[in-house]
Parts: sequence; structure tokens; C-alpha cells
Amino acid sequence: MINEIISNLTDGQVWADQISFYEEITSTNDVLKEMAKNGAPHGTVLIADRQTGGRGRMGRSFLSPSGVGIYMSVLLRPNCIPSQLMHLTCAAACAACDAIEEAAGFRPGIKWINDIVYQKRKLAGILTEMSLDAQQHVDYAVIGIGINCCQEQQDFSPEIRDFAGSLAMFSDNPVNRAQVAAAMVDAFVLMDKMLLAKKAAIMEQYRKDCITLGQAVSVIRPDNAQPGTAIDVNEDGALIVAYPSGKTEAVNSGEVSVRGLYGYV
Ligand code: BTN
Repeated sequence: MINEIISNLTDGQVWADQISFYEEITSTNDVLKEMAKNGAPHGTVLIADRQTGGRGRMGRSFLSPSGVGIYMSVLLRPNCIPSQLMHLTCAAACAACDAIEEAAGFRPGIKWINDIVYQKRKLAGILTEMSLDAQQHVDYAVIGIGINCCQEQQDFSPEIRDFAGSLAMFSDNPVNRAQVAAAMVDAFVLMDKMLLAKKAAIMEQYRKDCITLGQAVSVIRPDNAQPGTAIDVNEDGALIVAYPSGKTEAVNSGEVSVRGLYGYV
């Protein structure tokens, strides 16, 4: 698989020598974070065929079966402070849309903040994690993405079957996981080049891809759920929600999840 991934990368890709492939791993994010603590360089990429301990946002697990998905993490060491990197998940989501468009021939949308969706089905999820050094600078950031590539609807467990999807379910052509992985690495390299210098352009693209905008949503906190309308995403990736009272709020992805009023998206 690793040779096929490398051969599908853009020629001379700068991270090509830093990609490792695992048949099985606990979690590409967890292993990469350990490697980061031990000094692994910017642009280290781990890709796995299956994960035994895949994790999603908000402490959820992320099912990562063999042969059908791509589970990948990339390590960034941007020279900045955390407040300059609030848009990282948004940047990664746009990169994922670019890669899927390249490898599968259709452009999905983004359910705020980190779900890649198409026709009301989740195709991929992103988990970004950051660690600071003693000076409160960013020591490293890890972006993890799990992409459902080849599943048919019946391959998903009954609990998620109605709202999970794969690239193969929507692509006109057979989906090749090595091509998806390579397109993802290429897209992350471009994202990395733009990350700090082109924040406004990244967020402009994010707003175009974000299907949550304009929707009726429910803002879900541990103790309550409030209906409102998603009207914007700010430069830091917070969702601006207008409530029936006329008040607006910048909703932070760490605190709440947002559901459409009419189903998963
Ligand atoms: C989510 O949907 O909440 C995010 C899912 C992120 C899954 C990816 S798979 C590769 C990387 N390793 C993990 O354990 N999680 C991320």
C-alpha cells in the first residue's frame, strides 16, 4: 500500500519520505502524538488500514475497520501561538473536501465543524489535537482524519447506517484507497503552506463548503438544547447562531455540538 500511496503523490512531494503505513494501529493520532513528544518532524504522516482504538471528538470512539477506510494523521509544527491556529480544523476540513473532489470526483460539504458530508451522510471525520510548550507556543498539532472509502450501506452498523456514507456510494468511478490517501497528503501540504498566511481565504472557502450555514440548528450543551439559526462562521471557526430572542452567540466547537433540526445534518 505504501508504494501505491507514494506513486500517487504529486511528483517531488515534500513529505513523501515521512509517510509510514501500518496494517494495524491503536490510533494514528495517539501514536503520532507520542512520536511528536519524541521529536518527530513537521510533516510526519501515519496512515493505517485499521485502528483498534480510533477516537473521535468529544470522547467518542471512531470505528475503523480494515479494507474499507483510510485512517491518517499528520504532524504540524507551525511556529505560532494557539490563538493563531483556531481555524486549524476548518482548514483541514477544506483540505479534505479538496482531496475527495480530486480522488472521488465530487465535492462534499462540511457539517460544522469537522464532519465531511454528502447527501446527508457522513463520509469522514476530523480530530485535531494541539500541545503547547513551556512558553505557551504551539509545540505541535496533530490532524487526524478517518475517511469511509469503500463501504456499501449495509457494511455500516445498524446504529449509523442511516447517516453514514462512503466515497464509493457516491463516486461514478471505483474508489482507490491509495489514491484517496495520496490526495489527502497533497491537500494537507497545500493547506500547510496557506495555514498562517492565508487565513481569510481559508475561512472564505470554509463558509462556501459549510452546509450548516443558513440552517435551523439545535445548540446542544450537557444541560440543555437551544434552537436557533446558523448564520455565519467567524475567523476562528466559531459558529454564529441567531436565537429567536434576537440574540446571537459565537458557539465554540469545544463546548457544544450542533444538530440540524431535521436529522443528522
Ligand atoms: C469525529 O468524527 O469525531 C472525528 C473522527 C476522527 C477519526 C480519525 S481516524 C485517524 C485519527 N486517529 C484517531 O484515533 N482519530 C482520527
